[in-house]
Amino acid sequence: MSAVRSRPWAPLIGFFMAQISDSVSNLFDAIEMEMDRMIRVNLAGEQAAVDILKSQIASTDPSAIESLQNLHHMLDQEMCHLNYFQDQIRRHNYRPTILSPVWRVVANGVGFVTAKFGLHAVGSVIDGIEDTIELHYRSQIKNCQYWISKLERFNQLELEPNSASRIVGYIDRIREFELKIQLFADEERSHKEASHMWLDRSIASGILGALSRRATSVAVELSKRF
Ligand SMILES: [Fe+2]
Ligand SMILES: [Fe+2]
Repeated sequence: MSAVRSRPWAPLIGFFMAQISDSVSNLFDAIEMEMDRMIRVNLAGEQAAVDILKSQIASTDPSAIESLQNLHHMLDQEMCHLNYFQDQIRRHNYRPTILSPVWRVVANGVGFVTAKFGLHAVGSVIDGIEDTIELHYRSQIKNCQYWISKLERFNQLELEPNSASRIVGYIDRIREFELKIQLFADEERSHKEASHMWLDRSIASGILGALSRRATSVAVELSKRF
């Protein structure tokens, strides 16, 4: 009786602790959903980049040695990006997009056709795609910063040990992911800049670049959802 009298606010504290616990649990669910979505779309994009470049390399005139070296350098970097997301999908048991077989056929076709039209077409497509993907990665970096700041706010509260250690784990994991995305975004930008050596100022190249931007944006949105 005296214990109850001395701690009249105990039920209130219990209520707030339960609310915080629910919020933390909702936060973990939201982060998992977001990571699943981000990694799914990135895996699809990097697989498409690898398929397009391989197809472009196979169909480009072998005497264009310097251009082929540039394409091979891009392909090496895209393979690293792809390996990272494949590893993330496996490690966290995320789901790849069900549209993957479609994107692979489209990407191989795009690579083959653009290389047949010549390096101006190759440059226009790479410029359009990389421009969109760089922006896409920059927006994911902002997303990561948003989740980290949210987690850090929860980290200042008195939480039960299991939740506290999960919060620290998520902060470390999202920071590492953000650094990778930062590196990849910089490399996508360098691919875009390298592609400018092939660009001409023709209307056809302008249209092809605009189409590539639009098609990449649509593919990104569809891969997030499906
Ligand atoms: Fe990439
Ligand atoms: Fe790239």
